[in-house]
Amino acid sequence: MKSFYLTTAIDYVNGSPHLGHAYEKVLTDVIARYRRLMGDQVHFLTGVDEHGQKVQMSARKKGIDPQQFCDETSLEFRALCTKLNISNDDFIRTTETRHKAVVRELLQRLFDKGEIYRAEYKGFYSTRQEQFLQEKDRLPDGSWPEIYGEVTEITESNYFFRLKNYQEWLIGYLQEHENFVFPRYRQKQVVEFLKEPLNDLCISRPRERLEWGIPLPFDEKYVTYVWFDALINYISAIWKDGAPDPRFWPVDFHVIGKDILVPPHAVYWPIMLKACGIEPPKALLAHGWWLQSGAKMSKSTGNAVNPLDLVGQFGADAFRYYLIREMNVGQDSDFSAEHFVIRYNSDLANDLGNLVNRTLNMTNRFGGGVIPAAEVEEEPEKELKDLWAKTQAEYTPLCEGLQFHSALERTFVFVKAINAYIEKRAPWKLGKSTEAADQARLRTSLATMAESLRLAATFIQPVMPGTTEKIHAALGYKAGAVWRDEHPWSTKLDGCKVEQGLVLFPRPEPAAPAAGAAPAQPKQPKQPKQG
Ligand code: MSP
Repeated sequence: MKSFYLTTAIDYVNGSPHLGHAYEKVLTDVIARYRRLMGDQVHFLTGVDEHGQKVQMSARKKGIDPQQFCDETSLEFRALCTKLNISNDDFIRTTETRHKAVVRELLQRLFDKGEIYRAEYKGFYSTRQEQFLQEKDRLPDGSWPEIYGEVTEITESNYFFRLKNYQEWLIGYLQEHENFVFPRYRQKQVVEFLKEPLNDLCISRPRERLEWGIPLPFDEKYVTYVWFDALINYISAIWKDGAPDPRFWPVDFHVIGKDILVPPHAVYWPIMLKACGIEPPKALLAHGWWLQSGAKMSKSTGNAVNPLDLVGQFGADAFRYYLIREMNVGQDSDFSAEHFVIRYNSDLANDLGNLVNRTLNMTNRFGGGVIPAAEVEEEPEKELKDLWAKTQAEYTPLCEGLQFHSALERTFVFVKAINAYIEKRAPWKLGKSTEAADQARLRTSLATMAESLRLAATFIQPVMPGTTEKIHAALGYKAGAVWRDEHPWSTKLDGCKVEQGLVLFPRPEPAAPAAGAAPAQPKQPKQPKQG
């Protein structure tokens, strides 16, 4: 059986991970977890990009050997995955032997086929982007855009990959595969890019200028261009007997940021694969950027938010919730610490956290700690069940369409509705009545709030797996093996013994703020309503 294979971009290790890196991992993890819950076998790869000029320069600045520098910084990226509860199956580093061997094998294959040739290059070069520039890259006033940093004119002999020869093939491929890029409007960008003639790709750097890279197998005086090296991670991690393992390849999704869609992932990568006789990826998912006051968050602009500060203060699930709830996949989103705290307090501490406490408290107070069976179905129950039916009908198509922010939003509308149901039923009033009909309503209300909480907890599972587990455990419940069987309204909780209480989203300890980023001290979430 073929696994659902998905990957993140591999991060440059020339600095510490920031919110943008964290988002990509969380988004990919949500897809991975969702697919596993839907019954797919999943293979999830992430990792780090360790070669190239940027890393060499950062290591020099620190006065240490690049390998040692990579060994140290890659640990931060691994730690990030652990802290964010990322369920990756593999973590690749481009300095690993398994990766370097495949890069060299493919370079040799392409060289032998005549897809790589040597030529003299004269032109402009951006060290920051490790890229050769063309006249069309200049601004209207003739200067170079700031993203290129210092631009120098150089003349050197290099190796080139025959990209140009595959332009027509790629155009045809995109016509036949309209859903190659998600969101679809980004595919148009690729098509636009291909309207201009492609240049062959310079895939080497002379060692005297850049040492930190994979030597070309056919000319050891050169190292491999970092993008040519990095893209290959997606197959070197699953390499088996001279080809990507067919249990995983072709990949179902490469999850990447919109900045690295064109040309690396949408042009170089499919062409590299085609030239090597390997199938192209099934799809690319290009997400948007996290911005700070309208500017892209990045290491170089110094406006990066350290995800670990937020995770340390609010917990992994709260952080994951915020990222997924706030970003419509594909579009940009502005990060604001204040807004983070508002969401934390309102959605998580007040709506969900209070609901859990009210349910546990009332089951203990009026049901002796055991969830009773529902006995009646009146208007309040019917309304809530109808809303669940609607939420359930919308949820799966939204997730399938990668609209996780909307799936979460609908789930939290349901959470609010459970709270409203409790207000309407007012079990604390029913508890005072000695009428048999009110006692039946009281038991029904306890059963209904517990069951609806179980269901809401089931739907937040891909995004907040730890929270789901805690809520189910507090309800004395162990979910069955088939997730979809957990979705319908049921009587599964009848007779379950609940815990005394559960503090899911406590007031965070004030922490030392990260530069310009950490939230002001959050307000105390409202105390759980006792009913
Ligand atoms: N090393 C290359 C990728 C090679 S993949 C074969 C690279 N690294 S990166 O560290 O600069 O970026 C890694 C990922 O993080 C990219 O997908 C990038 O788009 C994403 N993000 C970096 N900053 C971001 C934001 N501010 N917001 C969201 N994601 C962004 O590019």
